[in-house]
Amino acid sequence: MYRPNEIESILVSEEEIREKVKEMGRVLTEEYKDKNPLFLCVLKGSVTFFSDLIRAVECPLEIDFIRASSYGSGTVSGGKVNFTVGGHVHIEGRDVVVVEDILDTARTLYTVKNEMLRSEPASLKIVTLLDKPSRRVVKGFSADYTGFAIEDHFVVGYGLDYNERFRNLPYVGILKPEVYT
Ligand code: IMP
Repeated sequence: MYRPNEIESILVSEEEIREKVKEMGRVLTEEYKDKNPLFLCVLKGSVTFFSDLIRAVECPLEIDFIRASSYGSGTVSGGKVNFTVGGHVHIEGRDVVVVEDILDTARTLYTVKNEMLRSEPASLKIVTLLDKPSRRVVKGFSADYTGFAIEDHFVVGYGLDYNERFRNLPYVGILKPEVYT
């Protein structure tokens, strides 16, 4: 298995991710089977989770992409969220499912959610693979569906990066602190 030196340990294995994605897919299928939902991928970190998740949802759906970033380079969120929607993403009247890789301070999803609600979707739910509840800055904010709640570690892999690296690891690993301290 490909395991770069900078990875301290594996936090969530490929197998655990696979099982969880299947389970989340079943729940989402049940909820959205008659709604032709619009699944939105928050680039870039959730691209891996997104592509696995939509294939686990067994009902008609559409997809689109938005871009949101709060981290520049480094491991501590700058507090400012940049958020872009392509001009062609129409969410008015749609049942929207925002798919995120990780919920940390929640500044990103708080901004994304508020912006989207202005366009009046029929409904809007948030799915995240990982959640670090102890890091929350936007108090009380939570996702509608969460894969794994994790401790406060900086993690990479399965789409998540450190300075654009490690997105291609098939598991979620803890980055050695000496890499970023
Ligand atoms: P939030 O706005 O603080 O909730 O941050 C969410 C974004 O920060 C995620 O979409 C990730 O891009 C990034 N992020 C937060 N924690 C981690 C981590 O442990 N590893 C990699 N990226 C992270």
